[in-house]
Amino acid sequence: MLNLDEYRKMANDEIAAIPYPTTPKGLYEPISYTMDLGGKRLRPALVLMACEAMGGDTSKALKAAVGLELFHNFTLLHDDVMDKADVRRGKPTVHRRWNENTAILSGDAMLTMATQYVAQVEPVVLPAVMELFNRTAMEIYEGQQYDMDFEVRNNVTVEEYIEMIRLKTSVLLGCACKMGAIIAGASEANAQALYDTGVYLGLAFQLQDDVLDVWGDEVTFGKAIGGDIMNNKKTFLLIGAMQKAQDDDANELRRWLNDEYALRSEKVAAVTALYERLGMREAADEAIKRYNDMAFEALNKAELSEDARESFVKFIEGLVGRKS
Ligand code: IPE
Ligand code: IPE
Ligand code: MG
Ligand code: MG
Ligand code: MG
Repeated sequence: MLNLDEYRKMANDEIAAIPYPTTPKGLYEPISYTMDLGGKRLRPALVLMACEAMGGDTSKALKAAVGLELFHNFTLLHDDVMDKADVRRGKPTVHRRWNENTAILSGDAMLTMATQYVAQVEPVVLPAVMELFNRTAMEIYEGQQYDMDFEVRNNVTVEEYIEMIRLKTSVLLGCACKMGAIIAGASEANAQALYDTGVYLGLAFQLQDDVLDVWGDEVTFGKAIGGDIMNNKKTFLLIGAMQKAQDDDANELRRWLNDEYALRSEKVAAVTALYERLGMREAADEAIKRYNDMAFEALNKAELSEDARESFVKFIEGLVGRKS
């Protein structure tokens, strides 16, 4: 087995070799801008790791791995429009550097490029790979719709939130694991165990993303802090705070949620202080730990060599307490 940085390098080399047409510049420049800004490359790394863990040849999974990274980046272009986010990976988002129409159309092109890359697998696994990829994509759109629907609802439950993040974020990590396994010709049971591992890992991952959106360091995280608070995103933190807050705290929280003209710095500072008073950071850390434990349990159901198991364990542990 290779280590995480080596899988990342494989993916990055293939991404650097993507042949973008030179014209129309307005379509392709934002794509190379986005893809060349980096990012953690977790999804392609998982495809490659799962493929090798199941005894497959990573060279047969490399295009599909890059396809999932293209897909992920496409969702980010559109997500940043939906979330009115100005910064990603420490740089202006595509809709800010260019404009919203550019983010929409370059995103569309990235989705098609993603499909072209994912489809470059051996013919025997192509139907299963495409079925998984397309189902996952639809689930992500569903998750993103719930995420937006919840902005204007104040009675979202923790269960609804978990289902929303399962859809918008976790299934892609599950898909990455399962796709690598399918390409390697793994049994259905092993592919499913790795899928479940990815999904639980993804729940912990999105919870940590919500935490970093509040307490992260802007430079390391690469995104503006407080975006979720400004959008009234029903994160684990906000849902918990709405349930726990009493009297003055409850009134204050309600006021901020209803104040359309709140100053960003004031609202973010006040809601963050409320979260801290109500112990939401600790509650989120506990939930993250629970889902990480569930990821390990799912991993134990896969038949893996000690070496392969260790690679997944390191991957999961490496995300605990991540800052970016
Ligand atoms: C950002 O994903 C979107 C979420 C699902 C939270 P990543 O945190 O993996 O973003 P990059 O690719 O490393 O920038
Ligand atoms: C991301 O959720 C989910 C998708 C992009 C599908 P977020 O909106 O929390 O991701 P960031 O924080 O902007 O990266
Ligand atoms: Mg966002
Ligand atoms: Mg979003
Ligand atoms: Mg986020």
